[in-house]
Amino acid sequence: MPASRETIESAFNQRATTYDNNSWHIRYAERLVELAAPAAGMRILDAATGTGFAAIAAARAAGPTAHVLGVDISDGMLSRARQSMTSLGMTNVDLIKADAASLPNLDTGSFDLVLCSAGLLYLPIRTALREWRRLLKPGGLVAFSTMREGFPVAARLFREQASHYGLALTDPATPLGMPSRCRQELRDAGFIPAQVVTETVRFSRADLEYAWQAHTQGPHHDAIAALSPTQVATFRAEYTSTLADLLNTNEDHALTSEVIYALGRAGRQETDTQL
Ligand SMILES: C[S@@+](CC[C@H](N)C(=O)[O-])C[C@H]1O[C@@H](n2cnc3c(N)ncnc32)[C@H](O)[C@@H]1O
Repeated sequence: MPASRETIESAFNQRATTYDNNSWHIRYAERLVELAAPAAGMRILDAATGTGFAAIAAARAAGPTAHVLGVDISDGMLSRARQSMTSLGMTNVDLIKADAASLPNLDTGSFDLVLCSAGLLYLPIRTALREWRRLLKPGGLVAFSTMREGFPVAARLFREQASHYGLALTDPATPLGMPSRCRQELRDAGFIPAQVVTETVRFSRADLEYAWQAHTQGPHHDAIAALSPTQVATFRAEYTSTLADLLNTNEDHALTSEVIYALGRAGRQETDTQL
């Protein structure tokens, strides 16, 4: 069953203070923005902006004549984003608390670009993409990123180990985790797939120090709450040691994650979407 909005919000409120410690988050977000190539004067929506990595990168790339709106449901993440905007002196980024999949207060056809970095696995995919299609001007671009199915390796290992405790955790990357699925979702939402590329993101060893925390506080794995404190302690010790072994025997495998960047164009006319 997908996690509720309240569960997701609370999970990210808890993670907000340490989220920026993971060095890969920013590289992952900045690469999406690089591929989307925002231009001067654009109106840009950063859906599920989190601590604002993609919003900041887009505002920098598009310059002072552009405007970026970041939306997120987590007050904790938004508060970190606000701190960053203030310390960077960014005046062309606004941040609001809202559900990125339903933005009735925003006008149809009012954005040139919608970004969503690492956010769609928490959202109802089709509903969100359709909403962003509505918000885009004809010819506008949507750009999102997602893990390829089975990645990150540390998360796969976590799920495998969880099965030893009777927990059947599913891979949250599965619904979008293949380029063909990204293209299909883009088409189903009325976009013309423009560019769908698989690349890798490299974690640092320090990133993996947060792996247990990220998995157990994440909204996809709340079934762990069913375990007793003793089981959790044993699970944690086993997971940490298996991950350390993997890092020592096959560091590249443990630290490299395949990711997908998918870009779709809003057709200029309804018939364009038939392409
Ligand atoms: C993994 S973080 C990604 C944050 C940021 N885009 C980045 O690249 O670092 C996912 C974010 O999605 C947000 N989120 C989840 N569901 C949401 C929803 N329905 N509406 C808006 N934001 C949502 C979470 O609060 C969290 O900040």
